[in-house]
Amino acid sequence: MKLASTRSLENLRVVLKDKNATGPEVAYWVFSDISLEEWENLTVWSPGTYNGEFVKTYGHYHGTDDLETYRIISGEGILIIQKKFFEGNEWIKNKVAEVIFIKPKIGEDIILSPEWGHAWVNIGMGPLITYDNWRAGHDPSDYAVMEELSGMAYYIVSENGEVKAVPNPNYQDLPEPKWFTATEFKNINNNYYITN
Ligand SMILES: [Fe+2]
Repeated sequence: MKLASTRSLENLRVVLKDKNATGPEVAYWVFSDISLEEWENLTVWSPGTYNGEFVKTYGHYHGTDDLETYRIISGEGILIIQKKFFEGNEWIKNKVAEVIFIKPKIGEDIILSPEWGHAWVNIGMGPLITYDNWRAGHDPSDYAVMEELSGMAYYIVSENGEVKAVPNPNYQDLPEPKWFTATEFKNINNNYYITN
């Protein structure tokens, strides 16, 4: 097991709602080679906000067809996922076909197929900790869309003690986000990951 990467506020700034925000110096730490079994990575997020926006991952798409499985080990998190929007064969990067916020319970698995861009948000009072099985690594292009558009389609913020979604103005024609449990998401996504 080793510390694979550390995402500082300075690295994360480009995808934050408020580019001048202050908050936790380190947003999250990723450890890799964590087990000899299913899980490959363990990620730990700081609690807190960047000027009201909850601590989150940078967000990315995958450049390969592998499936990724996540499981929350501790804490309270939301997984934001957004489906790639196509016009014919062309991927339109500043539009998304669907946005879903998944709030899994501890121990529940979420399996993501490659059409879903994704980012985790720590909405809890303490660290959020997840396992995942991603072994395919990352290419800089996995993150490029997030950098160009200043993040995912929605920002998750704390407003008067409530968790709110704020649209990212760099995206066009945004669909209303849907809130799903892990089971609800599994039911709608089943066809894809079982048949592919
Ligand atoms: Fe991923």
